[in-house]
Amino acid sequence: MLTAPLLKALNEQINHEMFSSYLYLSMAAYCEAKNFSGFAQWMRMQSSEETKHAMKLYEYVHSRGSAVTLLAIAQPPTEFHFPVKMFEQVVEHERKISGSITKLYELAIKENDYPTQVMLQWFITEQVEEEKTAVGIVEQLKMVGDSPVSIMMMDRQLGARSNG
Ligand code: FEO
Repeated sequence: MLTAPLLKALNEQINHEMFSSYLYLSMAAYCEAKNFSGFAQWMRMQSSEETKHAMKLYEYVHSRGSAVTLLAIAQPPTEFHFPVKMFEQVVEHERKISGSITKLYELAIKENDYPTQVMLQWFITEQVEEEKTAVGIVEQLKMVGDSPVSIMMMDRQLGARSNG
């Protein structure tokens, strides 16, 4: 069984992951409406990845003999500054998520919960990857500039993402 503080924090992390999924789906909808189907595809895949993160935690909580309590998911923003600022927002959001994973890890240490520490190591590695990917896209977008040809090129490149 998980300790009460750890269960509470894991439930909150599930909520953060679900909000992340919602945020990226909202970004996808925004891109879709602007007819940038490649950017939209990337965001949809990102959204689906976040749902998987939430489910990984959901399954973990149950595997420890505790029960998940789902919390309300906040409404994500619906307007974004396309495209550089939108991806800077992704970077900023992922850094916030990395921070909450770190806090969760610190709590698992405090609670002497070794299995949770081991489980969270996957998330720590994943966050490094997520931040790196988002920073890379921001840098690429800045490099190619905002000409329609460059944006179309990036749209095609990001649309090739097929895993989420
Ligand atoms: Fe699941 Fe992108 O944090």
